[in-house]
Amino acid sequence: MGYIDIHCHLLPGVDDGSSGMDETLSMLHIAAENGISDMIFTPHYKQGRVGTPREAIGSMLQEVRKAAREEGIGIRIYPGTEIYYNSALEEKLESGWLATMNDTEYVLVEFSPFETFPYIRNAMDDIFSLGYRPILAHVERYQCMLSSVDNVRVLHHMGCQIQVNAGSVAGDYGFKVKHFLKKLLKEQLVHYVGTDAHNCDSRKPAMEKCAETIRKICNPEYADQLLFENARTYLLDSR
Ligand SMILES: [Fe+2]
Repeated sequence: MGYIDIHCHLLPGVDDGSSGMDETLSMLHIAAENGISDMIFTPHYKQGRVGTPREAIGSMLQEVRKAAREEGIGIRIYPGTEIYYNSALEEKLESGWLATMNDTEYVLVEFSPFETFPYIRNAMDDIFSLGYRPILAHVERYQCMLSSVDNVRVLHHMGCQIQVNAGSVAGDYGFKVKHFLKKLLKEQLVHYVGTDAHNCDSRKPAMEKCAETIRKICNPEYADQLLFENARTYLLDSR
């Protein structure tokens, strides 16, 4: 069983992720070398700016799967979206325009790094009230979380799931971020790790170093939940 990457930008030629099929295949090779067996592709959606409809994601995934098979890459690929929250998501979700995480009730949601905590908390309430379950993307990127672990505890208590970026856990974004994530991991406040890979150079789908760090910080049971089991239970097998 390999690692499950629930947040990455590998759709060929879409937004600021992979530049095309060649780069997507190179990224898949890197992911496989890192022990990743399953990836949920999560292109950006931001109202009025950028977005790929669920149907288009579906047909692009078919092309990627075919090309990957021809290259001998065995990674399984699923649809998703990284949704930049706005208060008018209902129509896009209800109409099925937006791809949720592997067509489950879970949605990966991001905000501005400088968003206030009350806004994020209310947004999460809004998503629950629409009948979906929010996963907060890269919790370490928000000032209001970095400055208060209590805020993360509140979201966790509300039933929100929390995703962290593999590079942040591994220390690629500095000591302060790594230290913050260590606190969250010790308290078992995190549900998922994602690479948030955008290319095969500066932001590649690297997981090994993060997995090593997690195994040092967390007990074996929780480490397995983070790296494999939660994603399988909630996102891959629940359909
Ligand atoms: Fe992302």
